[in-house]
Amino acid sequence: MKTQAAVLWEAGTQWSVEEVDLGDPLPGEVRVKLAASGMCHSDEHLLTGDLPAPLPIVGGHEGAGWVEAVGKGVTTVQEGDPVVLSFIPSCGRCRACSTGHQNLCELGALILSGSELAGGQRITARGQGVGTMCCLGTFSPYVVAHENSVVKVRGDIPLDKAALVGCGVTTGYGSSVYTAEVKAGDVLCVIGVGGIGMNAVQGGRIAGARYIVAIDPTPSKLDTAKRFGATHTATSIDEARAIVLDITDGHMADAAVIAIGVGEGEIIASAMGLIGKNGRLVMTSISPLMQIDAKISLLDMTLFQKQLRGSIFGSANPRHDIPRLLDLYRDGILKLDDLITKTYTLDQINEGYADMRDGRNIRGVILFD
Ligand SMILES: NC(=O)c1ccc[n+]([C@@H]2O[C@H](COP(=O)([O-])OP(=O)(O)OC[C@H]3O[C@@H](n4cnc5c(N)ncnc54)[C@H](O)[C@@H]3O)[C@@H](O)[C@H]2O)c1
Ligand SMILES: [Zn+2]
Ligand SMILES: [Zn+2]
Repeated sequence: MKTQAAVLWEAGTQWSVEEVDLGDPLPGEVRVKLAASGMCHSDEHLLTGDLPAPLPIVGGHEGAGWVEAVGKGVTTVQEGDPVVLSFIPSCGRCRACSTGHQNLCELGALILSGSELAGGQRITARGQGVGTMCCLGTFSPYVVAHENSVVKVRGDIPLDKAALVGCGVTTGYGSSVYTAEVKAGDVLCVIGVGGIGMNAVQGGRIAGARYIVAIDPTPSKLDTAKRFGATHTATSIDEARAIVLDITDGHMADAAVIAIGVGEGEIIASAMGLIGKNGRLVMTSISPLMQIDAKISLLDMTLFQKQLRGSIFGSANPRHDIPRLLDLYRDGILKLDDLITKTYTLDQINEGYADMRDGRNIRGVILFD
Protein backbone atom coordinates (compact mmCIF):
# COMPACT_ATOMS: atom_id res chain seq x y z
CA MET A 1 0.00 0.00 0.00
CA LYS A 2 1.04 3.62 -0.45
CA THR A 3 1.47 5.71 2.68
CA GLN A 4 3.47 8.62 4.06
CA ALA A 5 6.59 8.32 6.20
CA ALA A 6 9.38 10.50 7.60
CA VAL A 7 12.56 9.17 6.03
CA LEU A 8 16.15 10.05 6.93
CA TRP A 9 18.31 9.80 3.80
CA GLU A 10 21.54 11.24 5.17
CA ALA A 11 22.84 12.04 8.66
CA GLY A 12 23.00 15.75 9.40
CA THR A 13 19.93 16.52 7.28
CA GLN A 14 16.23 16.66 8.21
CA TRP A 15 13.35 14.20 8.16
CA SER A 16 11.83 14.03 4.69
CA VAL A 17 8.08 13.34 4.73
CA GLU A 18 7.22 11.56 1.51
CA GLU A 19 5.18 8.82 -0.09
CA VAL A 20 6.49 5.28 0.46
CA ASP A 21 5.36 1.78 -0.51
CA LEU A 22 4.61 -0.47 2.46
CA GLY A 23 4.51 -4.21 1.76
CA ASP A 24 1.88 -6.57 3.17
CA PRO A 25 2.62 -8.42 6.41
CA LEU A 26 4.68 -11.60 5.93
CA PRO A 27 4.08 -14.67 8.12
CA GLY A 28 4.43 -13.62 11.77
CA GLU A 29 3.89 -9.94 10.98
CA VAL A 30 0.99 -7.54 11.46
CA ARG A 31 0.04 -4.18 10.01
CA VAL A 32 -0.81 -1.60 12.64
CA LYS A 33 -2.73 1.61 11.93
CA LEU A 34 -1.15 4.05 14.37
CA ALA A 35 -2.97 6.54 16.57
CA ALA A 36 0.19 8.37 17.56
CA SER A 37 3.98 8.31 17.70
CA GLY A 38 6.13 9.89 20.38
CA MET A 39 9.21 11.86 19.37
CA CYS A 40 11.95 10.32 21.50
CA HIS A 41 15.45 11.76 21.60
CA SER A 42 16.82 8.45 20.30
CA ASP A 43 15.54 9.22 16.76
CA GLU A 44 17.44 12.51 16.98
CA HIS A 45 20.57 10.38 17.50
CA LEU A 46 19.96 8.90 14.02
CA LEU A 47 19.81 12.39 12.59
CA THR A 48 23.06 13.51 14.25
CA GLY A 49 24.78 10.23 13.37
CA ASP A 50 25.41 9.33 17.05
CA LEU A 51 23.47 6.10 16.54
CA PRO A 52 24.77 4.16 13.59
CA ALA A 53 21.93 2.65 11.56
CA PRO A 54 21.95 1.98 7.83
CA LEU A 55 20.24 4.76 5.88
CA PRO A 56 17.74 5.47 4.48
CA ILE A 57 15.52 4.73 7.44
CA VAL A 58 11.97 5.53 8.55
CA GLY A 59 12.33 6.90 12.09
CA GLY A 60 10.13 6.45 15.14
CA HIS A 61 9.87 3.68 17.72
CA GLU A 62 7.24 4.88 20.24
CA GLY A 63 3.80 4.06 18.84
CA ALA A 64 0.37 2.61 19.54
CA GLY A 65 -2.62 1.82 17.36
CA TRP A 66 -4.91 -0.93 16.11
CA VAL A 67 -4.03 -4.15 14.30
CA GLU A 68 -5.41 -3.81 10.79
CA ALA A 69 -4.12 -6.97 9.07
CA VAL A 70 -2.33 -10.09 10.23
CA GLY A 71 0.09 -12.34 8.36
CA LYS A 72 -0.01 -16.12 8.46
CA GLY A 73 0.74 -17.82 11.76
CA VAL A 74 0.15 -14.79 13.99
CA THR A 75 -1.34 -16.04 17.26
CA THR A 76 -1.05 -13.29 19.88
CA VAL A 77 -3.17 -10.56 18.25
CA GLN A 78 -5.98 -10.28 15.76
CA GLU A 79 -7.55 -7.59 13.57
CA GLY A 80 -8.96 -4.71 15.59
CA ASP A 81 -6.84 -5.30 18.70
CA PRO A 82 -5.42 -2.17 20.38
CA VAL A 83 -1.65 -2.55 20.70
CA VAL A 84 1.44 -0.74 21.92
CA LEU A 85 4.63 -1.29 19.92
CA SER A 86 7.63 -2.26 22.00
CA PHE A 87 10.89 -0.68 20.81
CA ILE A 88 12.65 -3.92 21.72
CA PRO A 89 11.06 -7.13 20.44
CA SER A 90 10.80 -10.14 22.74
CA CYS A 91 10.80 -13.69 21.46
CA GLY A 92 9.96 -15.23 24.84
CA ARG A 93 12.37 -18.11 24.33
CA CYS A 94 15.97 -16.86 24.24
CA ARG A 95 18.17 -16.91 27.33
CA ALA A 96 17.37 -13.29 28.25
CA CYS A 97 13.61 -13.62 27.71
CA SER A 98 13.36 -16.92 29.56
CA THR A 99 15.21 -15.53 32.57
CA GLY A 100 13.00 -12.46 32.97
CA HIS A 101 15.04 -9.94 30.98
CA GLN A 102 12.93 -9.34 27.87
CA ASN A 103 14.61 -5.96 27.39
CA LEU A 104 17.76 -7.91 26.53
CA CYS A 105 16.09 -10.29 24.03
CA GLU A 106 18.50 -11.52 21.38
CA LEU A 107 16.24 -9.99 18.73
CA GLY A 108 17.37 -6.61 20.09
CA ALA A 109 20.48 -7.10 17.95
CA LEU A 110 18.29 -6.20 14.95
CA ILE A 111 16.82 -2.91 16.13
CA LEU A 112 19.51 -0.77 14.51
CA SER A 113 20.04 -3.07 11.53
CA GLY A 114 17.52 -1.29 9.33
CA SER A 115 15.97 -4.69 8.67
CA GLU A 116 12.67 -6.22 9.74
CA LEU A 117 12.42 -9.17 12.13
CA ALA A 118 11.00 -11.44 9.43
CA GLY A 119 13.96 -10.47 7.21
CA GLY A 120 14.37 -7.98 4.39
CA GLN A 121 12.77 -4.56 4.23
CA ARG A 122 9.06 -3.85 3.98
CA ILE A 123 9.32 -0.24 2.76
CA THR A 124 10.51 1.18 -0.53
CA ALA A 125 10.90 4.82 -1.51
CA ARG A 126 12.50 6.50 -4.53
CA GLY A 127 12.98 2.98 -5.95
CA GLN A 128 15.09 1.62 -3.09
CA GLY A 129 14.62 -0.34 0.14
CA VAL A 130 14.22 1.68 3.33
CA GLY A 131 14.88 0.38 6.86
CA THR A 132 12.90 1.13 10.00
CA MET A 133 14.00 2.37 13.43
CA CYS A 134 13.80 -0.51 15.94
CA CYS A 135 12.10 -2.71 13.29
CA LEU A 136 9.09 -0.36 13.63
CA GLY A 137 9.31 3.06 11.92
CA THR A 138 6.44 4.80 13.71
CA PHE A 139 6.91 8.10 11.86
CA SER A 140 4.25 6.83 9.47
CA PRO A 141 0.51 6.24 9.91
CA TYR A 142 1.05 2.52 9.15
CA VAL A 143 3.64 0.10 10.47
CA VAL A 144 4.30 -3.49 9.47
CA ALA A 145 5.90 -5.15 12.48
CA HIS A 146 6.58 -8.65 13.74
CA GLU A 147 4.23 -9.85 16.47
CA ASN A 148 7.30 -10.07 18.71
CA SER A 149 7.24 -6.25 18.78
CA VAL A 150 3.51 -5.94 19.41
CA VAL A 151 1.88 -5.92 22.87
CA LYS A 152 -1.91 -6.17 23.12
CA VAL A 153 -3.45 -3.72 25.60
CA ARG A 154 -6.94 -3.07 26.99
CA GLY A 155 -9.39 -1.16 24.84
CA ASP A 156 -10.18 1.55 27.40
CA ILE A 157 -6.80 3.32 27.20
CA PRO A 158 -6.34 6.37 24.95
CA LEU A 159 -3.76 5.14 22.46
CA ASP A 160 -2.16 8.54 21.88
CA LYS A 161 -1.07 8.43 25.54
CA ALA A 162 -0.32 4.69 25.51
CA ALA A 163 2.18 5.24 22.66
CA LEU A 164 4.65 6.74 25.13
CA VAL A 165 4.78 3.50 27.11
CA GLY A 166 6.41 1.83 24.08
CA CYS A 167 9.68 3.55 25.00
CA GLY A 168 9.94 6.69 27.15
CA VAL A 169 7.64 5.89 30.07
CA THR A 170 8.86 2.33 30.57
CA THR A 171 12.50 3.34 30.10
CA GLY A 172 12.34 6.17 32.64
CA TYR A 173 10.15 4.37 35.18
CA GLY A 174 12.25 1.20 34.92
CA SER A 175 15.56 3.10 35.17
CA SER A 176 14.52 4.13 38.69
CA VAL A 177 12.42 1.18 39.83
CA TYR A 178 14.25 -1.74 38.24
CA THR A 179 17.79 -0.71 37.28
CA ALA A 180 18.44 1.66 40.20
CA GLU A 181 16.26 -0.47 42.53
CA VAL A 182 14.77 2.58 44.23
CA LYS A 183 12.86 1.56 47.36
CA ALA A 184 10.60 3.24 49.88
CA GLY A 185 12.53 5.87 51.80
CA ASP A 186 15.36 6.19 49.26
CA VAL A 187 16.80 9.45 47.97
CA LEU A 188 16.93 9.65 44.16
CA CYS A 189 18.53 12.19 41.81
CA VAL A 190 17.43 12.41 38.17
CA ILE A 191 19.83 14.24 35.85
CA GLY A 192 17.96 15.52 32.78
CA VAL A 193 14.18 15.60 33.10
CA GLY A 194 12.92 15.37 29.51
CA GLY A 195 10.72 12.56 28.22
CA ILE A 196 12.78 9.83 29.91
CA GLY A 197 13.88 11.63 33.06
CA MET A 198 10.34 12.80 33.91
CA ASN A 199 9.33 9.14 34.05
CA ALA A 200 12.36 8.31 36.18
CA VAL A 201 11.03 10.96 38.57
CA GLN A 202 7.55 9.44 38.67
CA GLY A 203 9.03 5.94 38.97
CA GLY A 204 10.84 7.11 42.07
CA ARG A 205 7.64 8.65 43.43
CA ILE A 206 5.64 5.46 42.82
CA ALA A 207 8.40 3.35 44.44
CA GLY A 208 8.11 5.49 47.56
CA ALA A 209 11.30 7.56 47.39
CA ARG A 210 11.59 10.01 50.28
CA TYR A 211 13.29 12.77 48.32
CA ILE A 212 13.64 13.16 44.55
CA VAL A 213 16.02 15.81 43.22
CA ALA A 214 15.39 16.77 39.58
CA ILE A 215 18.34 18.35 37.77
CA ASP A 216 17.96 20.18 34.45
CA PRO A 217 19.15 23.55 33.12
CA THR A 218 15.65 24.31 31.73
CA PRO A 219 13.44 25.95 34.42
CA SER A 220 10.12 24.87 32.83
CA LYS A 221 11.19 21.20 33.02
CA LEU A 222 11.93 21.61 36.71
CA ASP A 223 8.45 23.07 37.30
CA THR A 224 6.91 20.05 35.57
CA ALA A 225 9.20 17.68 37.52
CA LYS A 226 7.65 18.98 40.76
CA ARG A 227 4.23 17.89 39.51
CA PHE A 228 5.67 14.45 38.70
CA GLY A 229 7.06 13.99 42.20
CA ALA A 230 10.34 15.91 42.52
CA THR A 231 10.75 17.28 46.03
CA HIS A 232 13.78 19.42 45.13
CA THR A 233 15.13 20.91 41.90
CA ALA A 234 18.50 22.17 40.71
CA THR A 235 19.81 23.62 37.46
CA SER A 236 23.18 21.81 37.69
CA ILE A 237 24.80 18.81 39.37
CA ASP A 238 26.91 21.17 41.50
CA GLU A 239 23.80 22.92 42.76
CA ALA A 240 22.16 19.53 43.42
CA ARG A 241 25.18 18.30 45.37
CA ALA A 242 24.70 20.96 48.02
CA ILE A 243 20.99 20.08 48.29
CA VAL A 244 21.67 16.32 48.58
CA LEU A 245 24.38 16.92 51.22
CA ASP A 246 21.89 18.90 53.25
CA ILE A 247 18.79 16.65 52.96
CA THR A 248 20.75 13.43 53.64
CA ASP A 249 22.92 14.75 56.47
CA GLY A 250 25.93 14.04 54.27
CA HIS A 251 25.03 10.43 53.42
CA MET A 252 24.22 11.39 49.81
CA ALA A 253 21.64 9.77 47.50
CA ASP A 254 20.85 6.06 47.25
CA ALA A 255 20.44 6.26 43.49
CA ALA A 256 20.82 8.59 40.50
CA VAL A 257 19.66 8.26 36.90
CA ILE A 258 21.36 10.04 33.98
CA ALA A 259 18.78 10.87 31.28
CA ILE A 260 20.34 13.88 29.55
CA GLY A 261 19.78 14.23 25.79
CA VAL A 262 23.27 13.12 24.69
CA GLY A 263 25.31 10.95 27.06
CA GLU A 264 28.76 12.29 27.89
CA GLY A 265 31.66 10.69 29.76
CA GLU A 266 32.56 13.94 31.50
CA ILE A 267 29.39 13.81 33.60
CA ILE A 268 30.02 10.45 35.31
CA ALA A 269 32.44 11.64 38.01
CA SER A 270 30.19 14.47 39.18
CA ALA A 271 27.09 12.25 38.99
CA MET A 272 28.89 9.60 41.07
CA GLY A 273 29.47 12.39 43.60
CA LEU A 274 25.70 12.64 44.15
CA ILE A 275 25.38 9.07 45.44
CA GLY A 276 26.64 7.68 48.74
CA LYS A 277 27.76 4.29 50.06
CA ASN A 278 26.20 1.37 48.16
CA GLY A 279 24.71 3.96 45.76
CA ARG A 280 23.62 3.07 42.23
CA LEU A 281 24.26 5.40 39.27
CA VAL A 282 22.29 4.45 36.16
CA MET A 283 23.34 5.47 32.64
CA THR A 284 20.19 5.61 30.53
CA SER A 285 21.24 8.31 28.04
CA ILE A 286 22.42 7.21 24.62
CA SER A 287 25.96 8.39 23.89
CA PRO A 288 27.68 8.76 20.51
CA LEU A 289 29.21 5.48 19.26
CA MET A 290 32.78 6.76 19.59
CA GLN A 291 32.29 8.15 23.11
CA ILE A 292 34.54 5.74 25.03
CA ASP A 293 36.13 8.05 27.63
CA ALA A 294 34.54 8.69 31.01
CA LYS A 295 35.76 10.64 34.04
CA ILE A 296 35.36 8.61 37.20
CA SER A 297 37.07 8.39 40.60
CA LEU A 298 37.85 4.70 40.85
CA LEU A 299 39.00 5.03 44.47
CA ASP A 300 35.68 6.61 45.44
CA MET A 301 33.88 3.78 43.63
CA THR A 302 35.82 1.10 45.53
CA LEU A 303 35.87 2.64 48.98
CA PHE A 304 32.17 3.55 48.99
CA GLN A 305 31.11 0.45 47.09
CA LYS A 306 29.30 2.48 44.42
CA GLN A 307 27.84 0.91 41.30
CA LEU A 308 27.58 2.26 37.78
CA ARG A 309 24.86 0.45 35.79
CA GLY A 310 23.69 0.74 32.20
CA SER A 311 19.98 0.54 31.44
CA ILE A 312 18.20 -0.40 28.22
CA PHE A 313 14.39 -0.05 28.23
CA GLY A 314 14.57 0.46 31.99
CA SER A 315 15.50 -3.21 32.59
CA ALA A 316 11.79 -3.87 31.99
CA ASN A 317 9.89 -6.83 30.54
CA PRO A 318 7.75 -5.19 27.83
CA ARG A 319 5.07 -7.91 27.78
CA HIS A 320 4.56 -7.52 31.50
CA ASP A 321 5.41 -3.87 32.06
CA ILE A 322 3.55 -2.19 29.18
CA PRO A 323 0.10 -3.46 30.29
CA ARG A 324 1.04 -3.01 33.95
CA LEU A 325 2.06 0.64 33.52
CA LEU A 326 -1.17 1.28 31.63
CA ASP A 327 -3.04 -0.22 34.62
CA LEU A 328 -1.24 2.28 36.85
CA TYR A 329 -2.34 5.06 34.49
CA ARG A 330 -5.96 3.91 34.61
CA ASP A 331 -5.81 3.90 38.41
CA GLY A 332 -4.46 7.47 38.46
CA ILE A 333 -1.05 6.43 39.82
CA LEU A 334 1.04 6.97 36.66
CA LYS A 335 0.81 10.27 34.79
CA LEU A 336 0.69 10.12 30.99
CA ASP A 337 -1.46 13.08 29.91
CA ASP A 338 0.90 15.68 31.37
CA LEU A 339 3.88 14.23 29.51
CA ILE A 340 2.53 15.43 26.17
CA THR A 341 3.53 19.06 25.79
CA LYS A 342 2.48 19.53 22.16
CA THR A 343 1.04 17.48 19.31
CA TYR A 344 2.06 17.68 15.65
CA THR A 345 1.06 16.31 12.27
CA LEU A 346 3.61 14.10 10.51
CA ASP A 347 4.39 17.03 8.18
CA GLN A 348 5.44 19.07 11.22
CA ILE A 349 8.01 16.53 12.43
CA ASN A 350 11.05 18.78 11.94
CA GLU A 351 9.28 21.55 13.87
CA GLY A 352 8.64 19.03 16.66
CA TYR A 353 12.30 18.08 16.87
CA ALA A 354 13.33 21.75 16.81
CA ASP A 355 11.03 22.26 19.83
CA MET A 356 12.72 19.30 21.57
CA ARG A 357 16.18 20.76 20.92
CA ASP A 358 15.06 24.13 22.24
CA GLY A 359 13.85 22.51 25.47
CA ARG A 360 10.18 23.35 24.86
CA ASN A 361 8.78 19.80 25.07
CA ILE A 362 8.62 17.10 27.68
CA ARG A 363 7.33 14.92 24.84
CA GLY A 364 6.14 16.02 21.44
CA VAL A 365 3.68 13.57 19.89
CA ILE A 366 2.68 13.06 16.26
CA LEU A 367 -1.06 12.37 15.96
CA PHE A 368 -2.40 10.43 12.98
CA ASP A 369 -6.01 10.56 11.72
N1 LIG B 1 18.50 3.44 27.41
C1 LIG B 1 17.35 3.43 26.77
O1 LIG B 1 16.69 2.38 26.68
C2 LIG B 1 16.82 4.69 26.17
C3 LIG B 1 15.50 4.72 25.67
C4 LIG B 1 15.02 5.94 25.19
C5 LIG B 1 15.83 7.06 25.18
N2 LIG B 1 17.10 6.97 25.64
C6 LIG B 1 18.00 8.13 25.68
O2 LIG B 1 17.72 8.88 26.85
C7 LIG B 1 18.15 10.23 26.64
C8 LIG B 1 17.04 11.18 27.03
O3 LIG B 1 16.00 11.08 26.07
P1 LIG B 1 14.75 12.08 26.12
O4 LIG B 1 13.83 11.64 25.04
O5 LIG B 1 14.27 12.22 27.51
O6 LIG B 1 15.47 13.45 25.69
P2 LIG B 1 14.95 14.96 25.95
O7 LIG B 1 15.67 15.79 24.96
O8 LIG B 1 13.47 14.95 26.01
O9 LIG B 1 15.46 15.28 27.44
C9 LIG B 1 16.81 15.49 27.76
C10 LIG B 1 16.86 16.48 28.93
O10 LIG B 1 18.21 16.57 29.38
C11 LIG B 1 18.43 17.92 29.76
N3 LIG B 1 19.88 18.11 29.81
C12 LIG B 1 20.75 18.23 28.76
N4 LIG B 1 22.02 18.37 29.24
C13 LIG B 1 21.94 18.30 30.59
C14 LIG B 1 22.90 18.38 31.66
N5 LIG B 1 24.21 18.48 31.40
N6 LIG B 1 22.46 18.28 32.94
C15 LIG B 1 21.14 18.13 33.21
N7 LIG B 1 20.18 18.07 32.25
C16 LIG B 1 20.59 18.14 30.96
C17 LIG B 1 17.70 18.72 28.71
O11 LIG B 1 17.42 20.04 29.15
C18 LIG B 1 16.42 17.89 28.55
O12 LIG B 1 15.40 18.32 29.44
C19 LIG B 1 18.55 10.31 25.17
O13 LIG B 1 19.96 10.11 25.08
C20 LIG B 1 17.83 9.13 24.56
O14 LIG B 1 18.41 8.69 23.36
C21 LIG B 1 17.60 5.81 26.15
ZN1 LIG C 1 12.91 5.99 22.71
ZN1 LIG D 1 14.12 -13.29 23.43
